[in-house]
Amino acid sequence: MSVISTRKDGDVLVVTSKNPPVNALGQAVRAGLADAIAQAAADDTIKAIVITCEGRTFFAGADITEFGKPPVGPSLPEVIDAIEASAKPVVAAIHGTALGGGLEVALGCHYRIAAASAKLGLPEVKLGLLPGAGGTQRLPRVVGVEAALPMVVKGDPIPAATAERIGLVDKLVADDQLTESGVAFARSVIGASSHPVSSARTDKIDTSLGDAFFDEFRKTELRRLKGFEAPEACIQAVRAAIDLPFADGIKRERELFGQLMTGTQSAALRHVFFAERAASKIDGIPADTPVLPIAKVGILGAGTMGGGIAMNFLTAGIPVTILEREQAALDRGVAIIRKNYERSAARGKFTTDQVAQCMDRLTPTLEMTDLADCDLVIEAVFEHMEVKKEVFTKLDAIVKPGAILASNTSYLNVDEMAAVTKRPEYVLGLHFFSPANVMRLLEIVKAAKTAPAVLKTAMALSKKIGKVAVVSGVCHGFIGNRMLSPRQQAANAMLMQGIAPWAVDDALTDFGMPMGPFQMADLAGLDLGWDKANSKGETIRDVLCERDRRGQKTGKGFYDYDENRRRTPSKEVEEIIAAFAAKSGGAAQSFTSEEIRDRLLFPMVNEGAKILDEGMAQRASDIDTVWINGYGWPAYTGGPMFWADTIGLDTVVAGLKAFGHEVSPYLADKAAKGERFNG
Ligand code: 3HC
Ligand code: NAI
Repeated sequence: MSVISTRKDGDVLVVTSKNPPVNALGQAVRAGLADAIAQAAADDTIKAIVITCEGRTFFAGADITEFGKPPVGPSLPEVIDAIEASAKPVVAAIHGTALGGGLEVALGCHYRIAAASAKLGLPEVKLGLLPGAGGTQRLPRVVGVEAALPMVVKGDPIPAATAERIGLVDKLVADDQLTESGVAFARSVIGASSHPVSSARTDKIDTSLGDAFFDEFRKTELRRLKGFEAPEACIQAVRAAIDLPFADGIKRERELFGQLMTGTQSAALRHVFFAERAASKIDGIPADTPVLPIAKVGILGAGTMGGGIAMNFLTAGIPVTILEREQAALDRGVAIIRKNYERSAARGKFTTDQVAQCMDRLTPTLEMTDLADCDLVIEAVFEHMEVKKEVFTKLDAIVKPGAILASNTSYLNVDEMAAVTKRPEYVLGLHFFSPANVMRLLEIVKAAKTAPAVLKTAMALSKKIGKVAVVSGVCHGFIGNRMLSPRQQAANAMLMQGIAPWAVDDALTDFGMPMGPFQMADLAGLDLGWDKANSKGETIRDVLCERDRRGQKTGKGFYDYDENRRRTPSKEVEEIIAAFAAKSGGAAQSFTSEEIRDRLLFPMVNEGAKILDEGMAQRASDIDTVWINGYGWPAYTGGPMFWADTIGLDTVVAGLKAFGHEVSPYLADKAAKGERFNG
């Protein structure tokens, strides 16, 4: 059956798309739409047309899987032009999400009605693109440049009610009466002397908006989007809607779209889109594996992580019981949770009522027996195996059979924890990232005996709490922290070669990372694990700590900090490092920023290859998902493994050899065959 079907409702032709899961505008859909418009034109009994979609959503955009392949007509711009040119009025009846090309189809229609729950947006920028089927020219003509600009540049969808307010939607209708309402609306406009044509409108274009307006927008909005190419192209395209007639504006849009589409950033961001979705698929789990109900969660430890983890569940409406050893620690932890909620409420993210509801779902306790009826218990106690084992032994005895026991450990062996319980199949790692209520990443650590249903439940739960989850095997530091370690070693080695910490950090921030290894060390505190009593100035860190340069908290570490925590290079640190470098005997070196970057990142790629070789990650794109969502790796490079693919695995291998690293055989083999990590 065709993906586009038509039926007559009296004098109205109802055109319905059925292309699950999201009615992407693939070739068959485009061809079907063009045929339907032609059918309506040829049939005198038809006076108006309604375009609607079956399933969970209106068209959610162009079919991204077609990108990069030879185009097969009709193109989306051709189809939209045909809709707009129809002498018979066309009404878009929107539900779910009208996104990208989907909204562009709706903009080509003469009228738009929407279910009250619908959302509309142009998210192309998030794929490193801009709307390429007229969206940058039609949207400003329909809603004005000021309303259109943020929609195109930031890509966040707006609710139907907002769309109605700005004139994007003509009428809101009840969710369960969309098609009937569309037909009624279409019938109500039959016979009108003319119908609005988006491309011909000029009434909303404010020609007085010039450089000052766009520069101000850049200043306020582009700072957060540093390094991304598409947002600036989006601005230029929208600007063309003021400066140029429609046909020339469209030409400009096509030109900019073409440049972005063939660029590395869009390829990387499209990879990121599919990588996130692939990560949620767990290999080797039978489709009929059940998802266990999680109605109540227990958390051990109300410290940095325990509190943040609790907030995820409270916000998602799941009651949490949180356990501490002492009343003071418990009170402190609960107070921080409350403060975090109140801060978010002050920023408009929650209402006061919602904060109260979240806090009502929280039960603080000092009694482990209060966790007995939890469906999932996550421990976030100190990072010591003996402490973890003790906790798992007690939990296993107290918590009801069939409940899941999880560890938030950063590095430790989850199999060892599972082994002290009588339910190893119900034990796994749930590794959240700090701050746990903010960071999107969750590593689900699959222990040797973890049951498929437990993994599937963890994955389903991660969606419920808004995380991007990736499955990792049991290894030191799992996927993310394991790859951090060779980077840190490379950074430390460079100090001994006379490279300044700021040169190392800047190489990474120039690349797009939020901070480098020494900034990160200063933030975490250099005295983490430092033993004051036994410190003998044997390492750079020892000396820094001995001089009370313990990081941001003491106002100085690798850097000096001002009262706003801005870093400046330190002469004292330079001298300390020079003394160590001289003692180590190696000749002082000087590297370019690119070489520093490669010296830091190639060993990470090498470690990533080992992780894949050992089966600790299911696929290379999972590693990319970890680094983008857990450590701020710049999404526009696609993550470490995709980045390695773009620069060529042979280049990475040559670099590793030149820097004196042993190359992973898996990586060497791929490079020799001219293959990529990501397909
Ligand atoms: N093309 C191809 N496949 C798509 C797709 C698209 N535009 N959008 C979603 N899919 C696929 C997903 O890959 C996923 O496949 P899988 O089940 O095999 O993993 C499946 O549809 C379901 O997607 P989600 O898991 O994301 O489903 P959700 O319900 O969570 O979200 C959504 C639905 C909000 C529509 C979300 O999928 C989304 O944001 N999609 C992308 C929207 C977008 O970026 N549109 C613009 C495309 S570019 C464009 O239109 C260019 C034009 O201007 C010329
Ligand atoms: P923390 O020191 O801030 O909190 C630990 C809390 O656990 C303390 O409040 C302590 O009183 C409590 N506690 C200790 N033993 C307990 C017991 N038997 N019963 C109840 N409460 C107990 O430590 P943090 O940073 O929250 O780390 C916790 C775990 O999370 C560790 O395994 C750590 O490796 C891991 N982790 C930490 C991250 C971070 O950035 N801090 C990131 C990801 C994981």
